[in-house]
Formats: sequence, C-alpha cells, structure tokens
Amino acid sequence: MKYDKETEKLLKKYHFTTQDREDFWNIISPIYNHQEFQKRLDPSLYPHHGKKSLGDHIVSDAIVTYSIANKKKQKGKDIDVFVAVIIAMFHDLYELPWQNTKIVKNHIVNKHGFTHPLEAIINAYTWFPEYFNDDAKAMKIVDGVIHHMWPFPVRAIDKTFTETELNNLDKVPNLDDRIKNIIIKSSTRKELKHISFSRSLFLEGRIVSYADTKVSIGKELKSAYALIAIITGINFGLKK
Ligand SMILES: [Fe+2]
Ligand SMILES: [Fe+2]
Repeated sequence: MKYDKETEKLLKKYHFTTQDREDFWNIISPIYNHQEFQKRLDPSLYPHHGKKSLGDHIVSDAIVTYSIANKKKQKGKDIDVFVAVIIAMFHDLYELPWQNTKIVKNHIVNKHGFTHPLEAIINAYTWFPEYFNDDAKAMKIVDGVIHHMWPFPVRAIDKTFTETELNNLDKVPNLDDRIKNIIIKSSTRKELKHISFSRSLFLEGRIVSYADTKVSIGKELKSAYALIAIITGINFGLKK
C-alpha cells in the first residue's frame, strides 16, 4: 500500500518495518477501502483539522496507536493491538463535516465536540457490524470510541437517544439492543449534567485518546484558524 507523503513520513517517524506495514494494512484495509471511509479521505468533502482530511487524520491516529500498542505488548502488557487500531479507525467516523456547517444545535451539550464520538460509534456499528460480534471486544471498542476525547467530556446519551440532536439519529432504530445498551452504559458513566467525564476503562481506548491528542496538537492544529475552529466550529482559513 502506498500512502500519501505525510503518512509515509509518519510511518518512517514511528519506525514501521516492512512487516509492520503489512500487519497494519491487514488490520485497516477492510475499513479503509469502504466507500464511507473513502469519502472521508477527500479534504474538500471532509476537512478535519485545518485542511487535512478526516480520513488522513484517522490513519495518522491509527499509525500512532499501532506503534504504542505494539511497544506495550512487547513489554509484556496484556493488550489487544488489533482492537486498539480498530478503535482508532472508528473514533472519528462522525456523520457530517463539522467546520463551517449550517447545522444549528439547540443545546450546547449537543454540539460537535460532545456528540461526534456517539455518531462515530453508531456509524461504525452500522457499516462494520462484524467487529461487534464478540461481547468483550464490542465493549472495548464502544467504550474506546465514546471516550476518545478524554479529558474532554462526551454527551451522555438518554434512553431514547433523541435528546442528543445527533446527525445520524435515523440509524438508531437499526442498532442491536445489545449495542444500544453498551452505548448508554458507557456514555452515562460519571454523568454530570448530561455529559460524562470519564476516560476509557480499557488500555486500548486510552492509547487512542493519547494518540489522538498527540496527532492533533502536534501537527494538524498548527494554524490559529484551526485552533479557533475547535471552539467555534468556524474555520476562516478554510473559507479563504
Ligand atoms: Fe474526535
Ligand atoms: Fe480524532
């Protein structure tokens, strides 16, 4: 697999061997090749931080996650590298581009920063249900995606899901009850005023949180425009 220049640089920085590249591609390719992921690789459709596409951001997170998880495994930690990388591949599969949108949310806790992890897990289950067959793995994946923004909190879902103003609410009726219950349980842990302040219960999810912060703060959020956009949702750099 040949990636773009920036991704190749990252693979080099994290010392990916030929074997690592092959193992990594074997994990991510079924998701990467899906049409919904392909759409998110187009920066004109899905700009994420600054001008970087959402898809490229996700792959960067997955690379850093793979590297950290592997190192921990080599040191004897009980960690599922495959699950960690899958959490990274799912973590930002939210519904709509979030910058410069006309979408109005009635409540502040329903804005993109708080709700996109919930949209991501609903989309991930809708497009890739086969990753959720095993209960223990499903729990790790759901919890990791939902709490990936930690220490930033996540919207606690209500029993009907309807108060959250999610952009993919139409997919909720098709969720399996088992998955719905895991989402509710995970997103309401340490709930205070409709948001949950908790990091993931599992090491795999915590690594993705760390990788996400590292990738976002280090490389992608270098313009003032991109930083302001995180709070306001408006990126004047992109408008130009
Ligand atoms: Fe995110
Ligand atoms: Fe992210």
